[in-house]
Amino acid sequence: MRRSLKFFVFLAFIISGTGFAAQKLDLTVISYEDFSRGDPNALEQLEQALYDQGIVGIRGVPSYREKVLNLIETAREFSALPEEVKEAYAPQGEMFLGYERGKEKFQRSDGTWVIDDLKVSYYGLVPDRSQNKWPDELDLKGPFLELGQLMADMGEEIMFKLGMIGVSTGIYLDETPRVGRMLYYCKNKKTDYENPYWCGAHYDHSLFTALVPAFYFENGKQVPEPAEAGLFVKIGETYQKVVANDPDVMMFQVGEFGQLVMNDKIRATEHRVQKAAGNVERYTMVLFTDAPMDTVIHSTSELTKDSRYGGVPGAPCSYRQWNDRTFERYIVR
Ligand SMILES: [Fe+2]
Repeated sequence: MRRSLKFFVFLAFIISGTGFAAQKLDLTVISYEDFSRGDPNALEQLEQALYDQGIVGIRGVPSYREKVLNLIETAREFSALPEEVKEAYAPQGEMFLGYERGKEKFQRSDGTWVIDDLKVSYYGLVPDRSQNKWPDELDLKGPFLELGQLMADMGEEIMFKLGMIGVSTGIYLDETPRVGRMLYYCKNKKTDYENPYWCGAHYDHSLFTALVPAFYFENGKQVPEPAEAGLFVKIGETYQKVVANDPDVMMFQVGEFGQLVMNDKIRATEHRVQKAAGNVERYTMVLFTDAPMDTVIHSTSELTKDSRYGGVPGAPCSYRQWNDRTFERYIVR
């Protein structure tokens, strides 16, 4: 059941000069200390935020900040490599691991599809697997896997406490690797762009997503997040801007398979990333938790109506089916 919205505090602000208005989300952030000692208040707050807002933050995970700063620095070094060097790490055949540029498409409200052409990714499995590709030019592997593992561990702990995995659902992650994704959103000199999003509105299709706050740079210098840019989550009918500028905060969102498993007790988070005007670039990292491919659920969620599930509540659906059909729908071939 969706809980009351009474705890929300929305602050409206206007960006000077652009006429752009956005509502700002008051992100719930709980301390790692309270979470790890099982403080019932902290857990209640966390659960409530995921029910109501679809996103929550945890501040102060040991060694997190240092790992984030390391990864962002490495991401910038990798981005600075010549395009032909980076392309050498692009996936071959059906595999998606490694360097990827502009491969996802999103459906707009008018039904037309648009490709995110300014979004660049680097995918890697966490923990490391032989299929991963790592560049020779610099050490991306170390910072990527170290931060990824920390995000994986925190995510697993939260999913366990929510009852998404473990005895209540019979889903155990076991040896299933997580999917880490380092993200670079390129600068965008035009302001009259046809597509105002670095990443169009969508839901993550997996169980659960961990996210690092984004870092912005202009002409090589770090700048604060521009007011028009960043992660926006949809609450009700409105997109709210998630102000996440603290490198000590790790964030978490709910994926569609998470909602299916939980039979709508928590809701997948619809989100998008809005572009910054001018020369501003954005770096971040996310980590997706997939269910093991042979997981079969019999969900009663409203998401069972989706053709990827099969349209019948209570009918069986494997994670493999959900995953494969999602890729068929959203990936540019
Ligand atoms: Fe996403």
